[in-house]
Amino acid sequence: MNTLSKNTLGKKIIIILSICQIIFLASIVTVGFYFFNYTLQDQLDKRVAAFSSQFESSIKTALISRDLATLRSVGMHAINLPDITEFNIFLSNQLIISEKSNKARPKNKLTITKNVTSSGINLGAIVYSMSLDSISANKKNIYSTLSMICLLELIFASILAYILGRYVNKRSNYIIDGMQKYATGETDFKFSYITDDEFGIIASAFNLMTSRLNENTKRLEELRLQNIHSNKMAALGEMAASIAHEINNPLTIILGTTSSMTQSLPLEFKDKEIVEKSIVRIQNTAKRIAKIISALKTFSRNAEDDPFEDVEINKILEDSLTLCSERFVFNKIDLKLIIQTEKNVLVHCSATQLSQVFLNLLSNSFDAIEHMEDKWVIINVSVNKDRLLIKFTDCGKGIPDNLIDKIMEPFFTTKQVGKGTGIGLSISKNIIDNHNGLFYYEKASVNTCFVVELPIH
Ligand SMILES: Nc1ncnc2c1ncn2[C@@H]1O[C@H](COP(=O)(O)OP(=O)(O)OP(=O)(O)O)[C@@H](O)[C@H]1O
Ligand SMILES: [Mg+2]
Repeated sequence: MNTLSKNTLGKKIIIILSICQIIFLASIVTVGFYFFNYTLQDQLDKRVAAFSSQFESSIKTALISRDLATLRSVGMHAINLPDITEFNIFLSNQLIISEKSNKARPKNKLTITKNVTSSGINLGAIVYSMSLDSISANKKNIYSTLSMICLLELIFASILAYILGRYVNKRSNYIIDGMQKYATGETDFKFSYITDDEFGIIASAFNLMTSRLNENTKRLEELRLQNIHSNKMAALGEMAASIAHEINNPLTIILGTTSSMTQSLPLEFKDKEIVEKSIVRIQNTAKRIAKIISALKTFSRNAEDDPFEDVEINKILEDSLTLCSERFVFNKIDLKLIIQTEKNVLVHCSATQLSQVFLNLLSNSFDAIEHMEDKWVIINVSVNKDRLLIKFTDCGKGIPDNLIDKIMEPFFTTKQVGKGTGIGLSISKNIIDNHNGLFYYEKASVNTCFVVELPIH
C-alpha cells in the first residue's frame, strides 16, 4: 500500500486561508484608500467653496465703493482663519490688500483665485492660499490606523488558520495512523476515540468495515481449512475403500481356507493341537485386519454433515486405538487407556469427527516422542459434574512457552515440509467447538497434555 502523505490537508487549509486573508485585506485597503481620499477631497472642495463665497460677499460692496478700510479688515479676519496662509485682494488688476500669516510655512498648499463680479462687470479678485498640512496629517492618521487594523486582522486570522490546520492535521493523522496499522497487519486495530464530526463518521465506518472484513476472513480461513481437511479425508477414504475391496477377497479366502483346514485335520494327527492353535491365530489376525480396514473406512469418511448421535465414548476411543495401536506397539510406545468413569458414558456427537480428533492427538504424540527412550502415551477418561474430560498425555516435556499460543493457529507446524501441514490441532479445536466442548493445551501439566472437554447429559 502506498504510504499516505500526512499533513497535506492541514497545510492546504493554512495556505488557502492565508491567501483568502491576503486577498480580503488587499481589497479592504484599496477600497478604504479610495473612500477616504474621496471623502477628504470632497470636504476640501466644500470648504474652499464656502470660504470663497464668504469672502466674495464680504468684499463685494467694499470693492464697488473702494472702501479700503473694510477690505483691510476682511483681509485681517481671513488671514486669522485656520489653514489660510496668504490672502490678497485685487481691484481690477491692481493688488490692493496682501496679508501673509506668520504661521509656519506649509509643506503642501492650495492657491485659489476667486473673481468678484457685479451685474457681469469684473470688479476684482481674491487670491488666497490654504495649507493642506492638516488634511495630509489626517490622511496619514487614517492610513496608519487602517494598516494597523489590517495587520492585527492578518495576525489573528493566521493564528486561527494555524490552529484549524493543526486540528485537522491531528484528526486526519489519527485516522491515517489507524488505517496504516491495519494495513500493516494489526488486524484487530479499532479506533477508540470517536468524535461527533466527519472524522468520527469515518472512524466508526472503518471500525465496522474492518470487523466485517475480519469476520469474513476468519470464515474464509475456516472454509479453506475444512476444504483441505475434507480433501485429505476424501483421498484417504478412497484409498481405504480400494484397499478394503482388494483385501476383503483374500481375507475371505484365508478365513474360509483355515476353517476347512481345521475340519480336514486327521483325528490321529499328533500335532493337531498346535496346528489348530496356529489356525485360530491366523483367523484372529485376519479378522483384526478386517476390523482395521472397516475402522479406517469409517474414520476417513467426510463426516461434516453427519447427524449427531448418542454414542459411547469408550467405543469411539477403542475404535481410534484399533487404527493406530499397531504402529505404537511396533515403535515400542506404551499406549494406555485409563477409564475412570463409573459407567459407559454417552456423548451426543459425530463419532467419526471425534475419532478424527483423537487420532490427530495420538499422531502428534507419536511424532513428538518416537525417538525418545521409555515412550508412553496415556489417555485418561473421567467425569467432572456434567463434563467428560479426556486427557491425552505423552512423555514429552511440554510445548515451549513461545509456541503455545501458535500451535492452534491454522498451518502452524514445526514439522518438516511434507510431514505436517499444521491443521491437525486447528481442525480438532473446530470440531470440539462444534460439539459445544473445550479443547486446550494444559500448561500446568509436567508432560505434554491436551484436554478435550465434552458436555454430557
Ligand atoms: N504432543 C505434542 N508434543 C509436542 N508438540 C506438539 C504436540 N502436539 C502438537 N505439537 C506442536 O503443535 C504443532 C501443530 O500441530 P498440528 O497437529 O496442528 O499440526 P502438525 O501435526 O504439524 O501437522 P498436521 O497435523 O496437519 O499433519 C506441531 O507441529 C507441533 O510443533
Ligand atoms: Mg498434527
